[in-house]
Amino acid sequence: MENAKTPTQSAVETRYLVMPHQANPAGTAFGGVIVSWIDMIASMAAQKHCGRQVVTASIDSINFRKPINIGDHVVLKAAVNYVGKTSMEVGVKVIKEDPCTTRQAIATTAHLTFVGLDENNKPFPAPKLTPETEDEKRRYKNAQLRVKTRKELLGKLKNEK
Ligand SMILES: CC(C)(COP(=O)(O)OP(=O)(O)OC[C@H]1O[C@@H](n2cnc3c(N)ncnc32)[C@H](O)[C@@H]1OP(=O)(O)O)[C@@H](O)C(=O)NCCC(=O)NCCS
Repeated sequence: MENAKTPTQSAVETRYLVMPHQANPAGTAFGGVIVSWIDMIASMAAQKHCGRQVVTASIDSINFRKPINIGDHVVLKAAVNYVGKTSMEVGVKVIKEDPCTTRQAIATTAHLTFVGLDENNKPFPAPKLTPETEDEKRRYKNAQLRVKTRKELLGKLKNEK
């Protein structure tokens, strides 16, 4: 495929420091702040893949596995997992890092779907995705299953009306 891209070509990584004003009443990082960081980095990966403005169609899943402390470094990694016609599923891994020991742990994982838009803000076909590594191929297959399952569920819910 001429304009196909690999996940590596659009992968994005960034890092934040959790400040006190970003805490919840329990004294750990507020989930809404983490979600906004996830949405931001995931949208950048989708934008890099399709070379267009994108919108978040859905936050498909988010798992807060471990709390993140104030003062922790937070590493976010985003990569496009799968591309449909106009939609792109992006996976995000949020890693918390103790700034003193540099010990890391996966704190949050998420899947989001973005759609690239044309000049009239209508969905526009995205370049195909060519997974290369074993991990990329596994993520592609899993994402394909999630998309299929979501569409089947939507169809069944509509039939209930
Ligand atoms: C997302 C949006 C562009 C889809 O437009 P639409 O006219 O419904 O387009 P379609 O039904 O043709 O769907 C386009 C693609 O998006 C996917 N899609 C639509 N709604 C979706 C949802 N809720 N979850 C996941 N994917 C979705 C479709 O499966 C389709 O994928 P495909 O082309 O790869 O097969 C439109 O619903 C929208 O603008 N939503 C608001 C976005 C927004 O404001 N986000 C928050 C700020 S960024």
